[in-house]
Amino acid sequence: MTDASSTPAIPVTIHRSDYLAPDWSIPDIALDFALGIDATKVGAALSVVRQADAPVPLLLRGDGLTPAAVRVDGEVWNDWRMDGSDLIVDLGERTAATVEVDTVIDPASNTQLSGLYASGGLLCTQCEAEGFRRITFHPDRPDVLSRYKVRMQGDKAAFPILLSNGNCVDQGEAGSDHWALWEDPWPKPSYLFALVAGDLVVNKDSFTTMSGREVELGIWVRGGDQDRTGHAMQALKDSMAWDERVYGREYDLDLFNIVAVSDFNMGAMENKGLNIFNTRYILADPDTATDVDYDGVEGVVAHEYFHNWSGNRVTCRDWFQLSLKEGFTVFRDQNFSADMGSPPVKRIEDVRLLRAAQFPEDAGPLAHPIRPDSFQEISNFYTATIYNKGAEIIRMMATMVGPDRFRKGTDLYFDRHDGEAATCEDFVRAIEEGAGIDLAQFRRWYEQAGTPRLKLSLAEEGGHWSLDIVQTVPPTPGQPEKQPMMMPLRLAAFAMDGSGDALADTLVTVTGATQRIALGTFAARPALSVNRGFSAPIIVDFERGPGELAWLAAHDDDPFARYEALQQLMLDTLVAAVSGKTGDNQAVIDAVDQTLAGAASDPAFVAEAVLLPSEAFIGDQMVTVDPDAIRRERLALQAAIGAVLETKWRAILAGSAPPATDLSSTAKGGRRLRGVALAYLAATGADDAPTLAFGIFSDADGMTERQAALATLAHGDSDERVAALDIFYQRYRDNPLVLDKWFQVQAWSMRADTVDAVKALAQHPDFTLANPNRVRSLYGALTGNQAAFHQADGAGYKLIADLVIALDPKNPQTAAKMIPPLGRWKRFDEGRQALMKAELERILAQPGLSRDVTEQASKSLLG
Ligand code: PHE
Ligand code: ZN
Repeated sequence: MTDASSTPAIPVTIHRSDYLAPDWSIPDIALDFALGIDATKVGAALSVVRQADAPVPLLLRGDGLTPAAVRVDGEVWNDWRMDGSDLIVDLGERTAATVEVDTVIDPASNTQLSGLYASGGLLCTQCEAEGFRRITFHPDRPDVLSRYKVRMQGDKAAFPILLSNGNCVDQGEAGSDHWALWEDPWPKPSYLFALVAGDLVVNKDSFTTMSGREVELGIWVRGGDQDRTGHAMQALKDSMAWDERVYGREYDLDLFNIVAVSDFNMGAMENKGLNIFNTRYILADPDTATDVDYDGVEGVVAHEYFHNWSGNRVTCRDWFQLSLKEGFTVFRDQNFSADMGSPPVKRIEDVRLLRAAQFPEDAGPLAHPIRPDSFQEISNFYTATIYNKGAEIIRMMATMVGPDRFRKGTDLYFDRHDGEAATCEDFVRAIEEGAGIDLAQFRRWYEQAGTPRLKLSLAEEGGHWSLDIVQTVPPTPGQPEKQPMMMPLRLAAFAMDGSGDALADTLVTVTGATQRIALGTFAARPALSVNRGFSAPIIVDFERGPGELAWLAAHDDDPFARYEALQQLMLDTLVAAVSGKTGDNQAVIDAVDQTLAGAASDPAFVAEAVLLPSEAFIGDQMVTVDPDAIRRERLALQAAIGAVLETKWRAILAGSAPPATDLSSTAKGGRRLRGVALAYLAATGADDAPTLAFGIFSDADGMTERQAALATLAHGDSDERVAALDIFYQRYRDNPLVLDKWFQVQAWSMRADTVDAVKALAQHPDFTLANPNRVRSLYGALTGNQAAFHQADGAGYKLIADLVIALDPKNPQTAAKMIPPLGRWKRFDEGRQALMKAELERILAQPGLSRDVTEQASKSLLG
């Protein structure tokens, strides 16, 4: 098998409207693996049953495979041929048969990390979306569900642990080999198949389900890492209890295993009964993991566990329905994390992520609806739109009907479609019927891409105030004209003079292109609190003066709305400054000062609220992004806030940090606020700031404080910076996840030489293209550093394009993920546009480019 031969030269576009039910079903599959790192023999026996009325050959997808032997009902079979990389078996008049195919694969040379691959001596699989066809010939489409029996045999010393889906029903020894037989009683699509073989240790625990089933839980890691699995185990047990309590969903096997591997393209994978995780979402202890890392572990463990119902018991009919499982499961994990910590802070974080990752996607050349109409390579559609906007669309349905009716809808969905491969339409219909709501217009969220905008204005007639709404949905590639969306809009209105008039929290449903909403009687223009809790994933255009925003930031009774008001005030101030208007910082400084008064009671919220908007988000508000002016003005505002409130920042830092082992949201918030305080203080250029940061770095009892101090130092030019980076490297050079942070803080640096630094770090002996986490920690961090990536001479663009070209032959999925930042060229000045497009063209000119990179680069170039 050579990886290069596995991707066709001319990308084919696949359309949702072309869906046809499978010609053959496969009720049962038996797989037999003779394991070896360089050569694994795979014997597959598929029991196939014809579904088509007339004879039709059996189409089995393959990717880089050669059939060593084909048998039908035990006889050697010659009626087969290859169609490109696929195998077509002619079964004549048969309506049922057992088709056996033998293949040999080479896990060691599988650098794509899709299919069966080796990760540090371990054999593991990744089959979603289309990796199973790299293991054996199979229809490899999610609407073909089978019961799997898996036998695996291998050298006892090399592979002491043998795991697959379901339950281990038998095992034995054969000389220096041993073998195990696994059976999964639940029919599943091929993308949920998994196998792991290697030298692993386990953290075992158990969970008793609501009906009294005792489930054995195992988290499998490399020797030495087991002490860092406690948080993941707790998250797993909490998730199991939460899904019972909130959705009435119970686990359905006697065993639930998780394996952590270092080389993984994504976060984790929900294989039935055998989740496989990127180590970064399993391993955590206070010395090596930040609070953000801890939350990531909890959220991803929950996400994959929740897939057991939203994804596995009810799966997707085809990959156009991906958001059916992903959007819903993200919504579920968001609510779980909210329940485990602070709901407003979780909502702020989720909205910040949506605005950082999804809004730009929706506004750019790769915009697509949460249910796409076509794709060339499905791996390119594991996007913020499918996941995060998808979750917002589920959230809107839940908001419109309320929790009890929503639960009736999801109960109907799970009961009606259990064991099936369903569609987004099935989900919407179940909510419609179960919750009792008409979602005819709401379905447009599945069809139309682009972030809707509501332009708001207030009108008054005889003391009665109303809100006028004008809704537009911007054109996106292939969708020039849009219809208005249906959305829930939570709002409230207050009299700023404290006269007591108010419109309490109200939920209205917006459906029209224009709409008027009565607010009530107010003596003067009321302060409007709108899209509270971010009830709809939209952009609100609403002219409000600094006085009104400051008032809301201080007085709104919805914490999310207070956060939004302060962010809007900061944004308005920054955008004015960037556009050359002489800025008045006073309103922002006063509002930050006000907000800091709540630091003792709710440090987590305050830390979020006083953070300045990111450079990228400021850029998103501008007609043409000016990365240098944004950097300059944001730093200037940060320095002003830092200087005027210096005693407050110093007071926060003078206190002691909560112990790193305390993971309560108050403790996490306290640490976050200290990080923010340090950044404000450092921005002032205070002489003692590096010493102070170095002190925090050295005295820290955990990674949250240590990394925050290191990141602050990394922006500067002090001796302390050099010392801290060196100490950090020496201390953690053998811990890959922590070493990733060392690369990351340098690529995030606001220093003028960051692009050169990244270029040099790519030559560091610890840098490797073979590990996706390492690639993201350096290059992914650079693309998130707006002023550096968009350095005017194009050096940042060139670095990313060079990376894409070098990585594509090894790992096209991860290479393709680096392209979207280059595709946002329309948002920049002509000079940068030309440089960005030239790099996209240079990528496209490479011979033998993967389908993944070809699709992303060619669509990005179109703009
Ligand atoms: N289905 C996985 C998840 O969302 C993501 C994934 C996709 C992982 C493709 C690997 C490959 O949890
Ligand atoms: Zn998922």
